[in-house]
Amino acid sequence: MDYNTINNSMQKEIADIKSYVERYLESDIELIDKVSKYIIDAPSKKIRPILVAIIGKALNLDKDKSYKLAVIIEFIHTATLLHDDVVDLSGKRRGKETVNKVWGNEASVLVGDFLYSRSFEIMVELDDMEIMKILSRATNTIAKGEVLQLMCVDQVQTNMDEYLKVIQYKTATLFEALCECTAVLGKCDENVRTNLAMYGRNIGLAFQISDDVLDYTAESDEQIGKNIGDDLSGGKITLPFIYAFQNSSNEKKEILRNIIQNRKIEDFMILRDIILETNSIKLTQDKAKEYVELAKNNLKVVEDTEVGKLLNFLAEFALKRQK
Ligand code: IPE
Ligand code: IPE
Ligand code: MG
Ligand code: MG
Repeated sequence: MDYNTINNSMQKEIADIKSYVERYLESDIELIDKVSKYIIDAPSKKIRPILVAIIGKALNLDKDKSYKLAVIIEFIHTATLLHDDVVDLSGKRRGKETVNKVWGNEASVLVGDFLYSRSFEIMVELDDMEIMKILSRATNTIAKGEVLQLMCVDQVQTNMDEYLKVIQYKTATLFEALCECTAVLGKCDENVRTNLAMYGRNIGLAFQISDDVLDYTAESDEQIGKNIGDDLSGGKITLPFIYAFQNSSNEKKEILRNIIQNRKIEDFMILRDIILETNSIKLTQDKAKEYVELAKNNLKVVEDTEVGKLLNFLAEFALKRQK
C-alpha cells in the first residue's frame, strides 16, 4: 500500500470534499478568492480530510456532515499555514511561492482569518455543541502552541518536554480533534472515541517530528515543496537540534548557540553535520516511531477491519513520508 493507493481508493470522497471546499470558499471579495484558491489548489497531501473521510466512511456517517467536517479541518489547517508562513518568514509552500511572498504579510494574515472564521460558520451549520466544544478548544490550543513556540525561539536550552508540548499543541491537536469529531458524529462509545482521539494525537506528534526531520534531511526544496532550513532561519528549536545540543561537547554547544542566534542559512551545512554526527536524526526518528506504535495500539478498537488497515498505514506514513 502507498499513499497514492489510499488517495485512489478515496477518490470519490476526495472529489466530493473538493466541491464542498469550492462552495465554502465563495466570497464577494476578489482578493480572498484569488489568494484562497492559490493556496488550496496547490498540491498538498490532504491527510486531514482523508482521515475524516476514511473514518467517516467506516462509521457510516452522513456524507454531508462528514464532508463539512473535512472542510472545517482543512480550512483551519490552511489558515494556520497562512499565519505560520508569515511568522516563519517562509518563501515556499506546497511547491509554490508562499502567499506572503506573492501578496505580502497582510493578505496572508487576513485571508487566514477569513478561512478561520469561515470554518466556524460551517461548524454552526453542523449544529452540534459537542463538535463546537472540541473545535473551539482545539483552535485555541493551536494558537497557544504557536505562541509557546515563539517563546522557545533561540532558546537552545529548550528540552524534549517543552518541544513535545509545542508540537502537541500546534499540530497534534488538530489531528486529535478531527478524529474525535468523527467519533462524535458517528455516536461512538466512550472507549472508541478516546482511542480514536489518542490515535489522532499520536500520529499528529509523529507527523510533526517527521516534518522537523525533513527540514534537515530532505534532498531538495522540491521534495518537500518548502524551503529546507526554514527552522534554522526562524531560530526554531526542534528535536534534531535538541538531541544535537544535548550530545555535543561544550565547544560544539557554543557553535550551535551561535548558529541558532545568527540564523544564517549559510551555516545550515555546519548545523546539519553536527546533527548527523551526534546521531540526532536517528534518535529523532526513534522518538517518532514511539508515537507511531502508540497510535497503532489505539487502533485495537478497530482491529482486523478495512479502516483499521488504512489507519495503520497512515500511522506509518506519518513517520516515513518524504514530503
Ligand atoms: C504542514 O502540514 C504543517 C505541519 C503540521 C507540519 P502538511 O504537511 O499536512 O501540509 P500540506 O497540507 O500537505 O501542505
Ligand atoms: C507547523 O509547524 C505549523 C502549524 C501547525 C501551524 P511548521 O512551521 O514546522 O510547519 P511548516 O514546516 O512551515 O509546514
Ligand atoms: Mg512553518
Ligand atoms: Mg516545518
